[in-house]
Formats: sequence, structure tokens, C-alpha cells
Amino acid sequence: QPGTTVSRGLPGVEGPVGTKGLKGDKGDMGRPGDPGCTDGANGEKGDTGGQGVQGPIGLKGNVGTIGPVGPPGPCSPTIQSAFSAATVTSFPTENQPIPFMNVIYNLQGNYNPMIGIYTAPVNGTYIFSFHLAVANKPLKVGLFRNLFPVIRTTEANNQATASQSVVLHLFRGDQLWLQVKNAVTNGIYTDAESSSTFSGYLFHAHQIKHCVFITAHFKGGVF
Ligand SMILES: *[C@@H]1O[C@H](CO)[C@@H](O)[C@H](O)[C@H]1NC(C)=O
Repeated sequence: QPGTTVSRGLPGVEGPVGTKGLKGDKGDMGRPGDPGCTDGANGEKGDTGGQGVQGPIGLKGNVGTIGPVGPPGPCSPTIQSAFSAATVTSFPTENQPIPFMNVIYNLQGNYNPMIGIYTAPVNGTYIFSFHLAVANKPLKVGLFRNLFPVIRTTEANNQATASQSVVLHLFRGDQLWLQVKNAVTNGIYTDAESSSTFSGYLFHAHQIKHCVFITAHFKGGVF
């Protein structure tokens, strides 16, 4: 007696993973098995179905995590320098730098308050200023760079202020100080209510390395 049960084959295996895509659809079912040849026995298992078609390309993945911080660029201004100091006595000595011994700011130590000299730590553009109280005597004072005055100021009025600001290019090691002309024109005055100050700072360091400047395209704001 021929077998009465003819089972269908099992479903085909899944298709392969598409390139960057989702998995393919399942394959078609296998063809039915051969008819059974023994009593009541099940038919043979059907052959495996053919490969499914490749799935569509998958969705874009999530944004990756932020990468590590890069190395410093070639133009990073890592060097800073600034000072501000005031005199503690009146009528400074001629023929030498005026010491501003009351240090208000000198974090990098480029100003020596005992001898009154600022030394440039790097090639760069610097800004210096002084505001000197003048009383009892006239004042003629110069801002010196390496033995020569860059700017000079004369103030002949009593109870006045002599002041200047200047932008200078300095080379590393250049020395800056204030110096009066002579003993009869040294009228810098200092008391509890009159400060005479000398200040300077590195505005922009000039690097040896060739700098690559990246131009950013600035988009206007939303009004
Ligand atoms: C400073 O500038 C001079 C002249 O351009 C150059 O010869 C020198 O190498 C520079 N020094 C430093 C430390 O940048």
C-alpha cells in the first residue's frame, strides 16, 4: 500500500546578508518530497529552497563618537607675558632704569622689579604704557629699548600726569625700561594717593614655524 502522507519540504534558508543592506528575504519553500515508498512512511524531506534575493540597502548608521583631541596646531599662542608695577619712591635716580618695585602683576616673571627691566620672552608684538604722577619737579622720561629711547615724554606742570602707550615689535631678549633724563628732570612722584605705573604685555607672539591660516566663512546671524 502506498504511503498516504506526503509532507512538504522545509522552508528554504535565509538569503545572505546584503552589502550594507538588510538580510534578504527567506528563500522559497523547497519542492515537495518524493512520494513515500513504504507503508505510512513520511515522504523525503524536500530540497532546500533557493537563495533569497538580496535585501535592500540598509539605513545609514548612527553618528560615531567624537574622536580624541588632536595635537596643538602650529600657531597656538602658548606663551603669554604681562606685567604691571608701580614705583615706591619719588624722584628716581638718573642714568639707570627706574625700578617699579611694587609689583601689581608679573605672573610670568619677565619684569624684574628690582632693576626695573622687562625682558621680552619671544619675538612678537608688545604693548607698553606708563602713567607717571609728576609733582614738585619737571619730568623728562624715555621708554628705552636696549639702551635707546623709543619714545620720550616731557611734563613740566606740577601735579600732572605723564603718560604714553606704544605698540612695539620686539625680539626675544630685548630689554625695556623707563629712565629719566637727569637729576633735575626726574619729577616722578609717589605717595599714598599717587601711583606711578609701568605696564606691558605680549600682544601677539610671532612664531618661527610657517603658519597655515584657515579661512572660515562666517555666516551672518539670524535677525
Ligand atoms: C626671532 O626673529 C629673528 C629675526 O626674524 C629670527 O632670526 C629668530 O630666529 C627668531 N627667534 C625666535 C626664537 O623666534
